[in-house]
Amino acid sequence: MKDMSDFVSAFAPASIGNVGVGFDMLGLALAGAGDRVLARRVDGDRVTVAEVRGLDGEIHPYLSNNADENTASIAAQALWDAHGDSGGVELKVHKGVPLQSGMGSSAASAVAGVVATNALLPAPLEIEALLPYALEGEKFASGGLHTDNVAPSLFGGLILCPEVLLPEVIRLPTPEGVSTVLLHPDLQVNTADARRALPRSVALKLWLEQQGLLAGFIHACATSDKELLYKSLRDVVIEPHRKGNVVCFEDVVAAAMKTGALGCTLSGSGPSIFALCSSNDAKNIASAMEQACRAQGIGCQSWVSTMNAPGASIES
Ligand code: HSE
Repeated sequence: MKDMSDFVSAFAPASIGNVGVGFDMLGLALAGAGDRVLARRVDGDRVTVAEVRGLDGEIHPYLSNNADENTASIAAQALWDAHGDSGGVELKVHKGVPLQSGMGSSAASAVAGVVATNALLPAPLEIEALLPYALEGEKFASGGLHTDNVAPSLFGGLILCPEVLLPEVIRLPTPEGVSTVLLHPDLQVNTADARRALPRSVALKLWLEQQGLLAGFIHACATSDKELLYKSLRDVVIEPHRKGNVVCFEDVVAAAMKTGALGCTLSGSGPSIFALCSSNDAKNIASAMEQACRAQGIGCQSWVSTMNAPGASIES
């Protein structure tokens, strides 16, 4: 029996898809939460999953060891098929990101799986080259191609990643003195279902409005213009169709804005809700959001993060 020292360990952070203004094309890494994947070389020719554990260290109650159904192994297998050698790879997946949380849970596993497996390759790839393989895992989970969780989890920070420009993704500057607060209510939203429920077309007027908000937001981030950030952090296209899935949404947003947030909206397809705010206000805003959520009888957890949180890394 081999010991743990045979394993390479990779950590990949949680992330905020859409960042309100850029549906499927803007993502933000979140410090403080993430998935860990351990990988080692074994006999055989496939990527297998030895165990999936939750935050408590116990065997995960909902995720199985079936390598065809885990985003970490699906992504790792895609990488191994393209660049591996004749051996196999065994993974241990340690979930730190809650499932169906709107925090990029499937992406964090896919990214950590790929980063750990990459370290075992005869000739490891540059991190930029790992994106397409990590996306294979995400595609399986969400039933569509969207890069806005995988890219920030892999690279860290704020990433612009519209499908039309792939494989190119753009690392955007983050504003000085602005932090992220993310509230995760104890609810679940299935991303694939939430995507299927969206309308197939958008009125030109709304499209123009959202384009303007996205452009303004990117400029506000580049220039650390908090006033412009306040004006531009809004989702007029997607949020109206999704906020009804999160019963505490209106109250949590109202609490964040009343406490001085620059903007507050859904993280990915929800149920998580994030706010951007002056870093000095972050703790108060997190408490206010938690209080509003609990007042609805819904348990929750919150994180405060810098906007340029680091991406995935090898830990050992
Ligand atoms: N862009 C994706 C969506 C993110 O909103 O469906 C899912 O986390």
